[in-house]
Amino acid sequence: MTSNPASECFVYITLPHAVSPVIAGKFVLSTNRAGVPLGKFVYGRSYVNNPQAVSIDPIELFLSDKTYATVRLNGVFGALRDAGPDFWGRRVIEKHSGKTKLGEIDYLLESAEDRAGALGFGLNQNPPPPLRKFNQTLDLEKLQSLAEAVIKDELPNDPAAPQVQELLLLGTSMGGARPKAVIEDGDSLWIAKFNRPDDRWDNTRVEHAMLRLARDCGISVAESRIETVAGKDVLLIKRFDREKTKDGYLRARMISGLTLLRAEEAAELRQGWSYVLLVEELRRIVGEPRKEARELFRRMCFNAMISNLDDHPRNHAFIAKEEDWKLSPAYDLTPSPVVSQDRRELAMECGDDGRSANAKNLLSQHARFLLEKEEAEKIVKDMIDRVGKWYDVVRSGGVSERDAETIRSAFLYPGFFY
Ligand SMILES: Nc1ncnc2c1ncn2[C@@H]1O[C@H](COP(=O)(O)OP(=O)(O)OP(=O)(O)O)[C@@H](O)[C@H]1O
Ligand SMILES: [Mg+2]
Repeated sequence: MTSNPASECFVYITLPHAVSPVIAGKFVLSTNRAGVPLGKFVYGRSYVNNPQAVSIDPIELFLSDKTYATVRLNGVFGALRDAGPDFWGRRVIEKHSGKTKLGEIDYLLESAEDRAGALGFGLNQNPPPPLRKFNQTLDLEKLQSLAEAVIKDELPNDPAAPQVQELLLLGTSMGGARPKAVIEDGDSLWIAKFNRPDDRWDNTRVEHAMLRLARDCGISVAESRIETVAGKDVLLIKRFDREKTKDGYLRARMISGLTLLRAEEAAELRQGWSYVLLVEELRRIVGEPRKEARELFRRMCFNAMISNLDDHPRNHAFIAKEEDWKLSPAYDLTPSPVVSQDRRELAMECGDDGRSANAKNLLSQHARFLLEKEEAEKIVKDMIDRVGKWYDVVRSGGVSERDAETIRSAFLYPGFFY
């Protein structure tokens, strides 16, 4: 089957205190005269007149009857893009869809309704009812083997393949590159992250341990646990953008750091990726700037201390359960053991010396994080003590001695102290 990529869709939103979506507006994607993708969004009149209505995001799509336009991010407004799939979900969708050409709107339309945040997309003016049925913990083994088949490219390119459909049902719209699915367990939704056969160490256990280490450092983190299915570890991370009630799931709005920075996604265009700029934006949108700025400072320092060099702006998120926005709990914390002992760089700028992941640089912009110099120094010192205990934390989290040795050089590398 071939057909042209979709060029418009309706955008739905589940409002605070509600469990079913309403229509928020319409998104149209075209190209401008220079051939550059151009996105336009307009809120529907009924939505603008709805006293319960909220803005989709806190920086760009303010609730009004104006037509918004953007050429950033291939014409897809950041807040909409954040509700869509990344590398992993796109890969699954491409396997499943019979279309030869998928456009940005197709990815939004084809991914499952369990997407991050409060938005939904569709071609009907009336939003579909919310999902009631989710994969369960029991399905993890099947999901894990399907994920492996996708990685190995062993799934048939057949839209009818029921197994792909099943995997597709949930999880494709969660972002990120690693294999994952969404399951319901008890009264919550969880992201299940799987190991890849080509991983150099047990990523799930290490990530789980990093969340624990971050919590020991005073950082607010997503709740997680390990399940072992068919002899393989799966990391379950509780979704912070959903809350079950007797009537269904409440959904928080969610945007990424990339959206808040109004930055581009491609690493070649990463000049706007910066903690120093992010904290400025954060302070403008949150209810408690002092608390949240300090929290971001800790996260930036933590990433430098464990060489989490993949701390790109999509690995930071902001959520709003009601009116107010705040930092989401931290997630996707992964150490990278690299050879260089002198100089390492975070993905985002963290001080006067750009991306350099060292104490001096991290401290250089303390005032932007609303910290006095001495306060910032004390935080860094305390965190160094905590991160110094990484080995005990990973080992007690079930990371093997061999894996612990493989990741050793990620922690508090010598250049951090220069
Ligand atoms: N606990 C959570 N609740 C809700 N959404 C989450 C949670 N954890 C992660 N997410 C969302 O899912 C996305 C993917 O998760 P994560 O970053 O852990 O995956 P990944 O595949 O390891 O990412 P990457 O491509 O950065 O390696 C995140 O960017 C975020 O939008
Ligand atoms: Mg990620």
